[in-house]
Amino acid sequence: MAIIIDGAKLAQEIRTEIKAEVEELIKSNRRAPGLAVIQVGDDPASTIYVRNKFKACAEVGMESFGFTLEDSVSEQEVLRLISDLNTDSRIDGILCQLPLPTQIDQNKIIFAIAPDKDVDGFHPYNVGLLLMGNPEALVACTPLGCMEMLKAYGIPTRGKRAVVIGRSNIVGRPMAALLLSADCTVTTTHSHTPAEDLPGICREADILVAATGKAGLITPDFINSDQVILDVGISRTADGKIVGDVDFATVEPLVKAITPVPGGVGPMTIAMLLKNTLTSYRRRMAD
Ligand code: GUN
Repeated sequence: MAIIIDGAKLAQEIRTEIKAEVEELIKSNRRAPGLAVIQVGDDPASTIYVRNKFKACAEVGMESFGFTLEDSVSEQEVLRLISDLNTDSRIDGILCQLPLPTQIDQNKIIFAIAPDKDVDGFHPYNVGLLLMGNPEALVACTPLGCMEMLKAYGIPTRGKRAVVIGRSNIVGRPMAALLLSADCTVTTTHSHTPAEDLPGICREADILVAATGKAGLITPDFINSDQVILDVGISRTADGKIVGDVDFATVEPLVKAITPVPGGVGPMTIAMLLKNTLTSYRRRMAD
């Protein structure tokens, strides 16, 4: 039986800490930290993610500013909004929910957000700091949440082998960079890694991070009994259940520790968004 890494509980603890800090700020007549969230169009998954972000802000006493734009909005208009938010003194974090409609160049949007308000950690300035191992980087929330889970459960990283499956800018690449800075020997696999090589590569891992969105990809032939698995995947099955990349029923009994889906990495992502917003606020107030 594996240790179940309870992301929901850990995320709640972090939110409680953040809430206490925000209450202190309000008591001493400071403004609350503020997060701006831009959603373009009405993609149902994005709508749920964005709603959860607003709820989380409200729960800890942060201000949130929502901007819902038509699916047909021009790139110029989104850039103008971001430019206004960059100089708005009530706002510490700016997040533009991805994916964006095709008429908008995602990179232009990411580049336009002021790096010191980039609570998603997607701007090249922050990605550069992350790759340099500089702790000043604002780091993408999902991989940051994964590192928090390892820390909270006392899982050592120095000298350990880590395998990250997936090389997205949102998860795989920043995850690999964080594990490298935490002194792991890191392997990143991706869609061009021969499928027949994957189980053998993954079996070598002390820490396995799965971020593919392929339900049930990780089966017992991918694992070893000392392994810690962080399951970042989220898929919906035909009968409406949310599942991860790991075939939990067969893998869980065989490994040392594992995150469940739901209730693992997901809740940590939002907790890290609040944490990044508070970090950005503190830096702004210290200037
Ligand atoms: N879409 C899926 N995940 C994310 C995220 O972490 N941030 C943003 N902005 N969009 C996303």
